[in-house]
Amino acid sequence: MPDFSHTLKGNERPIGVFDSGVGGLTVVKQLMALLPQERLIYFGDTARIPYGTKSEETVIRFALEDSVFLVEKGVKMIVVACHTASAIALAHVQRALDVPVVGVIEPGALTAVARTENGKIGVIGTASTIRSNAYTRALRSYDSWVKVFARACPLFVPLVEEGWIEDEATYLIARRYLQPLIDNGIDTLILGCTHYPLLKAVIREVMGEGVDLIDSGVETARYVKDMLQQRGLLAPQGQDPEHYFYVSDLPYKFQEIGERFLERSLPHVETVNFEAFVSRKGSGFWETLERKAVGRHSMTDP
Ligand code: DGL
Repeated sequence: MPDFSHTLKGNERPIGVFDSGVGGLTVVKQLMALLPQERLIYFGDTARIPYGTKSEETVIRFALEDSVFLVEKGVKMIVVACHTASAIALAHVQRALDVPVVGVIEPGALTAVARTENGKIGVIGTASTIRSNAYTRALRSYDSWVKVFARACPLFVPLVEEGWIEDEATYLIARRYLQPLIDNGIDTLILGCTHYPLLKAVIREVMGEGVDLIDSGVETARYVKDMLQQRGLLAPQGQDPEHYFYVSDLPYKFQEIGERFLERSLPHVETVNFEAFVSRKGSGFWETLERKAVGRHSMTDP
């Protein structure tokens, strides 16, 4: 397992990206397109997916563990590609770690506010993302005038993983989920889940050409580029970087699904015994990190 913290200068180090599974490869795809010189290390928590139905406590704990795994590989920053983890755990991870951490909610929300003309913005995501209200908070913090219409579309994730991208059943389900947003008169729709860019054609057909679809992966890649530029952390041009992919389980049809998300062949993917990684660090380590993450300290802390 490479550890780049000792061998590479700050800007040459990889960007760490994590997700609950393979879905975050839609974000990786956009990072590769916009920042081809950057090394990437991806961790997909395939053993514990889905995050979208789990409690806040669990998602926060998982997000911290995933991030520490990447930090130990020597990454220069972390991209939380999972919308559920970004919605629930971003601030926790930012407080707990010393590297910059970027989520996928803010970049999409900023673009939506800039692009809407009638101020009616729709958001779709997993049940946990929608329940967290993270998008509504972000959108209204940029522009308190906008009206936000949020809708959970939990069946979209399994449909995409099953490969039913333009299936009749998918159109039927999409119409059922999206009709209320059409009735609300939105002119902008944020695809607030890693899997939804794959359903863009279906969503476009159901919503009609008049609705602007915001792909968080595209917006996040731009945001990451700006941030690296501002901090002088962009990798030197011209390097042909190696990428590393880790998962906590190698599920059935992983390669096929992964390549659908990445739209290119997936190189070697290493399976990590994540349970062993977490327990090796010891409960004291995680308790201290969790205290840092919530921003309070115990009496015994220095
Ligand atoms: N990656 C998740 C997200 O973007 C979708 C899959 C899951 O529920 O874990 O919200």
